Amino acid sequence: MENGRRKFLKIASHAIGGTLAAGVAAPVVGLAVHPWLKETVYGIEDFINIGKLDDFQVGIPKKMTITSSKMDAWNIFEGLVMGSVWVVRAEDNTLSVFSTNCPHLGCGIDWGADVNQFLCPCHGGVFDVNGRKISGPSPRDLYTFETKIENNNILVKYKKC
Ligand code: FES
Repeated sequence: MENGRRKFLKIASHAIGGTLAAGVAAPVVGLAVHPWLKETVYGIEDFINIGKLDDFQVGIPKKMTITSSKMDAWNIFEGLVMGSVWVVRAEDNTLSVFSTNCPHLGCGIDWGADVNQFLCPCHGGVFDVNGRKISGPSPRDLYTFETKIENNNILVKYKKC
């Protein structure tokens, strides 16, 4: 009888100890595995595909919405709108991808096709087709994003700015 109770207490204490150890280890394992899950299982990457190179005319800026996937705990949210960019394709197929927000105070910049310039409606900021500041209060040129082309897809490393 005494032997049976000791055996039961031994098994119970091992079970409780194992449960506590798993509770401590799970977050550590989760932290280690999370980046791998994020990049390989769910396909969430730093570079976001914004379309095919062929869909952009040379020298004519095109505004594109940036959408992405986001993992929040165990949920995956697809097609989240993160922002937008201006894409300019040059003759040699190199790309310039600019923020649509003015570097002055963040207003939305439009393409003025009639004057061939980017125009900020808030305080009169003006930028050329290469994003260089022409006039206005902006302290700098338009923000640009790292871009690459893979299999005719335009990939942009987007972040809020
Ligand atoms: S926010 Fe664009 S010029 Fe001021």
